[in-house]
Amino acid sequence: MMEEIGEIKESATATFTFKAFKDIRKLDYVFVENVLAQVWEVKQTVNGIFAYATIIGSINDKFMPRTPFKIGSKVYRANEKIIKKIIGIENEGIYIGLLKDTNIKVHLSPKVLIQKHLCILAKSGSGKSYAMGVIIEEFIKKNIPIVIIDPHGEYTSLRRPNLDKQDVSIMKKFGIKPRSYLKNVYEFSPVCSRNKEAIPLYIDETNLSFQDLLNLLPNATPLQKGILYEAHKKAQEKKIYLLKDILEYIKESKSNAKWNLIPQIEQIISMKLFSVNYTPINEIVKKGRCSIINLKGTPPYIQEILVGLLLNKIFEHRKNEKILPVMIVIEEAHRYCPEKGQGKSFSSSIIRTIASEGRKFGVGLAIVSQRPARVDKNVISQCNTHIILKTTNPNDLKTIVASVEGLNSKASDEIQMLPIGTAIIAGLPLATPIFVEIRPRETLHGGKLD
Ligand SMILES: Nc1ncnc2c1ncn2[C@@H]1O[C@H](COP(=O)(O)OP(=O)(O)OP(=O)(O)O)[C@@H](O)[C@H]1O
Ligand SMILES: [Mg+2]
Repeated sequence: MMEEIGEIKESATATFTFKAFKDIRKLDYVFVENVLAQVWEVKQTVNGIFAYATIIGSINDKFMPRTPFKIGSKVYRANEKIIKKIIGIENEGIYIGLLKDTNIKVHLSPKVLIQKHLCILAKSGSGKSYAMGVIIEEFIKKNIPIVIIDPHGEYTSLRRPNLDKQDVSIMKKFGIKPRSYLKNVYEFSPVCSRNKEAIPLYIDETNLSFQDLLNLLPNATPLQKGILYEAHKKAQEKKIYLLKDILEYIKESKSNAKWNLIPQIEQIISMKLFSVNYTPINEIVKKGRCSIINLKGTPPYIQEILVGLLLNKIFEHRKNEKILPVMIVIEEAHRYCPEKGQGKSFSSSIIRTIASEGRKFGVGLAIVSQRPARVDKNVISQCNTHIILKTTNPNDLKTIVASVEGLNSKASDEIQMLPIGTAIIAGLPLATPIFVEIRPRETLHGGKLD
């Protein structure tokens, strides 16, 4: 039995106003004649309390009201079963938190996240990395491989349990306990002198393809490409060839265009990103493993090259089914796939490729950024699930509203006022954006460390 809470006083096909006899708050869900609606405004008058609600959908999903409700129709408080069914909240999956002001657990489907990509957008300090950490914990529990591009080295704390007293006291409400994922979390770094606990990260240097070379030299002129092509062809005559072999053949070229090319290749070799003792991709992407690519202390230019190379390798391996489907988390995405006119990044093109083709091959993206307006729109537009936290910058708000389907103007007004820990989640498979209290972290949140 649902609790009767009011009576309709005014009705249109998409909205209605009812007089409330019982407690009613903004964002509460109500139910009228098989239709679910959400309260967006509550007004106190001399004649009592009136609530304004917008219709979300019907139990019978083909039905949408084409005539208003009758005046006097009874309004009920919607129960959990109906809310979940009509909004499309799953019973299991990635447990991210509770539907605001309820005990309804919100789960996202890991399959949808991998196939349709995720983005977490909000201003700095609003809880993006925290929410991403929650999602990563859930992926680890499901043994789904995860690779995190971590410019600040803030995710290594996934190895340590969250014993914060205040967090522990609210964990009960969310039905979780402190935990650590010591066995699952691996840290890789190109500068191990700075990250002593990390495993060295080197890319396979043997037998680079011509395309690999072009990727390494995105600004090569047609003449230089010609030299590269010749050198690469000669190198291929060997069974195993390295970048230094290609360099030797470039030096043999008669064209003067080689003089600009040689120092570029020498510079790449000097970065020491490559090695014959490379890190196997199937050690980075592995069942039950969460691999952190810790880029702390790596110069930005080298970070971009490394991310580009690594993601290219992962994508190739996945295409050839040499590794399992994988979720790739990109923190500070505006650095690695910037919007046109906001600077270039070596890693842009592979991220764009994964955004548009990843779903076919089981390579998912989770994009995190505090500057939504500065992230490549082509990438954001491919993300079908959005987690939005507090955002105030007008340009960023505009980008969010433009890219998030189903975000009505009321919800977008709310983005500016969201408290820390509350998110709006929109997109697949939800019928309407929902407000979610993000669950506490089981592991320590790294952003807290420094
Ligand atoms: N769901 C939450 N529950 C409790 N505390 C939270 C939550 N989300 C964020 N916080 C608090 O807010 C702080 C900032 O969160 P976080 O590091 O995730 O911000 P961010 O959006 O990633 O910022 P930046 O853009 O600077 O990286 C955290 O250190 C934590 O104390
Ligand atoms: Mg962060």
